[in-house]
Amino acid sequence: MTASTTAPPMIRMASVQKHFGPLHVLKDIDLEVPKGQVVVVLGPSGSGKSTLCRAINRLEPVDSGVIEVDGRPIPQEGRELARLRAEVGMVFQSFNLFAHKTILENVMLAPVKVRRQPAAEVRKSALELLERVGITNQADKYPAQLSGGQQQRAAIARALAMRPKVMLFDEPTSALDPEMVQEVLDVMTGLAADGMTMLVVTHEMGFARKAASRVVFMSEGEIVEDSTPEAFFTAPKSTRAKDFLGKILTH
Ligand SMILES: Nc1ncnc2c1ncn2[C@@H]1O[C@H](COP(=O)(O)OP(=O)(O)OP(=O)(O)O)[C@@H](O)[C@H]1O
Ligand SMILES: [Mg+2]
Repeated sequence: MTASTTAPPMIRMASVQKHFGPLHVLKDIDLEVPKGQVVVVLGPSGSGKSTLCRAINRLEPVDSGVIEVDGRPIPQEGRELARLRAEVGMVFQSFNLFAHKTILENVMLAPVKVRRQPAAEVRKSALELLERVGITNQADKYPAQLSGGQQQRAAIARALAMRPKVMLFDEPTSALDPEMVQEVLDVMTGLAADGMTMLVVTHEMGFARKAASRVVFMSEGEIVEDSTPEAFFTAPKSTRAKDFLGKILTH
């Protein structure tokens, strides 16, 4: 076998269970994301998409099952957990930038603090990242001085600054005004084209169709379908997926 067929998937979840009190939010989840794939997670509100994402970098502990990142079980705590968090970049709906730091400082913060890299080196790569997301000219501004789309691109640059192996996106464009959605999706599409492994929760069907290697459809804590975008959008198998598509596509 070649190295690529023996390489562990970047993310592996097996028999993962999670409850919030009586509510069963992740029901026996099995999911593998091979290196370089872009997996888009779709599903109605409350189906467990965010919980799934948060479980992967252990923002949300699970009840049982296996979660591995690049072949290693996710650590419970301490230094090992901090290392996992550095390897798994996450971008949320809200931009989560530090309000009292400039955009450049936001991007530099974690590499300086966590990685203890020299400031000059970090500054250089931070500026390169800002260029990659198209906001070099915003480097010395504060988050409140940027548009939502620019802030979200800064948040992506900040996550990339730790040189993650995989990026998780949880509805990164949902809080944006419509005219700013595309600029963020363009950055994500570029990342995907560069080979970044990505798990993306989104309602942007255009992105799912174009950029996804696979679409995973969740409903009531279960993965109901896991297929190519082509198959999912043209011939969804389950009634639940058909209902979901019917609602969002006629929106
Ligand atoms: N911290 C929590 N405590 C209790 N229940 C929670 C908690 N977080 C989420 N839930 C519940 O778990 C279920 C799954 O929530 P989750 O946020 O993962 O759904 P989602 O698919 O991301 O929904 P949305 O599309 O609205 O973001 C929901 O019923 C939600 O109310
Ligand atoms: Mg959610």
